[in-house]
Amino acid sequence: MRTGTRVPLTLVRGQGAWVWDDQGKQYLDFVAGWAVNSLGHCPPVVVEALEKQAKTLIQASNQFYTIPQLELAQLLIDNCCLDRVFFCNSGAEANEGAIKLARRYGKLKLDGAYQVITTYSSFHGRTLAMTAATGQNKFHEPYTPLPDGFINVEYNDIAAIKKASNEQTCAIILETVQGEGGVNIPDSGYLKEVENWCREKKILFILDEIQTGVGRTGTLFAYEQYHVEPDIMTLAKGLGSGVPIGALLAKESVSLFSPGEHGSTFGGNPLACAAAHAALKYIIENDIPAKVKQLSDYFMGKLESLKQQFGFITGVRGRGLLIAIEFDSEIAQSVLMSCLDKGLLVNKVKPNALRFMPPLIITEKEVDQAIEILKNVLAEK
Ligand SMILES: Cc1ncc(COP(=O)(O)O)c(C=O)c1O
Repeated sequence: MRTGTRVPLTLVRGQGAWVWDDQGKQYLDFVAGWAVNSLGHCPPVVVEALEKQAKTLIQASNQFYTIPQLELAQLLIDNCCLDRVFFCNSGAEANEGAIKLARRYGKLKLDGAYQVITTYSSFHGRTLAMTAATGQNKFHEPYTPLPDGFINVEYNDIAAIKKASNEQTCAIILETVQGEGGVNIPDSGYLKEVENWCREKKILFILDEIQTGVGRTGTLFAYEQYHVEPDIMTLAKGLGSGVPIGALLAKESVSLFSPGEHGSTFGGNPLACAAAHAALKYIIENDIPAKVKQLSDYFMGKLESLKQQFGFITGVRGRGLLIAIEFDSEIAQSVLMSCLDKGLLVNKVKPNALRFMPPLIITEKEVDQAIEILKNVLAEK
């Protein structure tokens, strides 16, 4: 089905930060499966874990415990501020679980409150409910009427959140840094103000770290940089370093599902959990987030130099290796196609903005190679 516009390129192989097409041409991959291939393509630790697990146990029903699921859950809770984990298969499914959990909380603790506040320019996934949660009209229009219970308000505006809150509000969900909306960084103090408001009103503070989690922004979870603690956090994308997996994490006090109230056939699949466990363990043991931070400074510095050189670059912004550059006109698609031609894969996040989300293991040399291509492309625009 034609659900998106594809770039005319068929990829057949990947290694590290590089991919090859069916004609044998090589590309530097600064899309990384949409911020998924955290350790690059076919990272040995993940390949080995998959090989081993594929020979041991591929799928089991969630009536039973499995070792990879337990090990991954333990590693996650040992390294974040949440206590309980529910595994699923994608970001949208993790967010659906988060909203269902918030509604359970509303029913049990807040007299049936069910509304969830979200922000403009957010992105929370493609299910019908997450389409409603996503604060972008272009995603709403094809599917109205949308499920009830989501209020979209201005981003970076605590007053808008306060105004939208009422006795029906059970939660606020935010991306720690907005990804698909254009890499929008929260203003200093915004997330803390939202957290404080949630505490005051006894409503849930949910962070969607599907794009920002697992090292992408230079700390294991982006919330660490903002000195806040969510009640619920969702993960997917980079968690499996290429293998599909999602996770819903919650504080013990809000883990209110009773048996039978939520579930997923493939959620917590041993193969996916073994891959994610190997990837996460590698990321933690090798302090990949610290390396991301260094690389980010280096990459952003180079992009700032391009901005000095090309007046039509109007902005460079990002956290870690989630970075965007903005142009003064809608040239992103044309820049993307020229980069493709010269062997660099980038993402058009807005008609006038490109997003870079390379594997977390790229090197300075690879950043230099990408910058060189970008510079040559921009010189022709
Ligand atoms: C912040 C955020 N939340 C949710 C999603 C949805 O994740 P998935 O595509 O795995 O359903 C995405 C995907 O881009 C995302 O960036």
